[in-house]
Amino acid sequence: MINTPHNCPPLPPLPANFNVAEEFPITRNWTFFNHAGVAPISARAARAIERFAQEARDDSYLSGRWYHKIELVRKLAAEFIHAHPEEISFVKNTSEGIAFVANGLDWKPGDEIISTAVEYPSNVYPWMDVAQRHSAKHIMLPEADGRIDRQSLFDAITPRTRMIALSHVEYASGFRHDIAAIGQFCRSHDILLCIDGIQACGVLPVDVQAMNIDFLSADGHKWLLGPEGAGIFYCRKELLLSLRPEIGWMNVINASDYGHYDFTLRADARRFECGSHNIPGVLALGASMQLLLDMGIETVTQRVMALTAHLCACLEQKDYAIISSRRPNETSGIVSFKSRRYNHSEIISNLEKQKIILVEREGRLRASPHFYQSIDDINRLVAALPS
Ligand SMILES: Cc1ncc(COP(=O)(O)O)c(C=O)c1O
Repeated sequence: MINTPHNCPPLPPLPANFNVAEEFPITRNWTFFNHAGVAPISARAARAIERFAQEARDDSYLSGRWYHKIELVRKLAAEFIHAHPEEISFVKNTSEGIAFVANGLDWKPGDEIISTAVEYPSNVYPWMDVAQRHSAKHIMLPEADGRIDRQSLFDAITPRTRMIALSHVEYASGFRHDIAAIGQFCRSHDILLCIDGIQACGVLPVDVQAMNIDFLSADGHKWLLGPEGAGIFYCRKELLLSLRPEIGWMNVINASDYGHYDFTLRADARRFECGSHNIPGVLALGASMQLLLDMGIETVTQRVMALTAHLCACLEQKDYAIISSRRPNETSGIVSFKSRRYNHSEIISNLEKQKIILVEREGRLRASPHFYQSIDDINRLVAALPS
C-alpha cells in the first residue's frame, strides 16, 4: 500500500508490470478527470477495434469468429455484475436498456414510479413518457446537500408503487445510493428496481443478485473504459418474459433460418436483441472489462476511493466547497465541488490550457479520476486550481 497524505485511505499499488502510459496512452497528453463523462478507451480496447477493422477489411466475417467472441463478452459482462449470461443483452447505450423496461412492461393506470429529481435525463424522460402514455405517476424526490435520503425514498412508497428507478451513482453529485438496502426493501415489498448503472459499473462493485436489482443498464463509455455505443442490459431471469421486446429478425430462436419464419422469442435476454450487434464496440468493451477484472474491481475501487479522498482533503485546504457526500458508502468516483470565488468556466478553460480536464455539471465542478491515475495527478490538478 502507498500511504497518502492527510490520513486518507492508502492507495493499493498497481501491478509491477502495469505500464500506465502503454495501457492508457492518454496520460501522455492529458491529466484527464472526466471518466464520468466520456472516458478514454484502454489500449487493449483500441487494439480490439483495430483487429476488427483489419478482419472486416480483409476477410469480412469469415476469419473473425466475431459471433463466438460476442458470446464470450456476454459471459464476461455477466461475471462483472454477478449475473448469468442468459440475463445479459447488448444495447447501444444506457438509454436503450432503460427504454426496454419503460416500453416493455405492462403498465397500468395509477402505477407509480419513484425516482429522484437529479437523474441524468436517460432516467427521466422514459418515465415521463410512461406517465403520459399509461396515466402512471412519476415521482421525483429532491436532493438535499448533495444526498438523497433513503428514508425519503421509502416514505414515498404507496400500495401503487410499481418501480423504483435510480442511478446507482448520481451524475452531478456523485452520491452513491445504498442499492443493496434499497433492493432488499424493494424485493420484500414486491417493487421492481431498475438501475442506471453507468456511473458505477467499472469503478464500484455491482452485484445484481446480492443487491436484488431487477433491471440494470450501462453503456461502456465511462468507467468501463469502452467506446460509446456498446453497453449491457441486465434483466433478472424471472422477469425475462415480463418485458415485451422491440421485434426484429434476431430475437427469435431460429434467427439464422431466415426464410422459415417461426416467431418464437428466445427464452434468454437475447430476446431483446432485435438485429445485428455493434461488433467492434462490444469486442472493445470486452477487452476493457477483462482489464478491469484482471486488475480486480476491489483494487480499482480502493484506488479511486483513495484518489478522491485525497482530492477532497486538498480541496478543503484550498477552501473549495465539496458537494459530494463524504459519508462512508455514499462516495463514488465523482467529486463535485464549487469555488467560492472563481468563475467555473474560467477555471475549466485555464485547466485545459495546462492539459488538465474536468467539467461542470449543474453549477458544480466535477472531477472523476480512474484507477490508473496517481496522487501526483491529483496534486497537479490541485496545484493548478486557483486559491
Ligand atoms: C447517469 C447517466 N446515465 C446515462 C448516461 C448516458 O446515457 P447513454 O448511455 O444512453 O448515452 C449518462 C451520461 O452522462 C449518465 O451520467
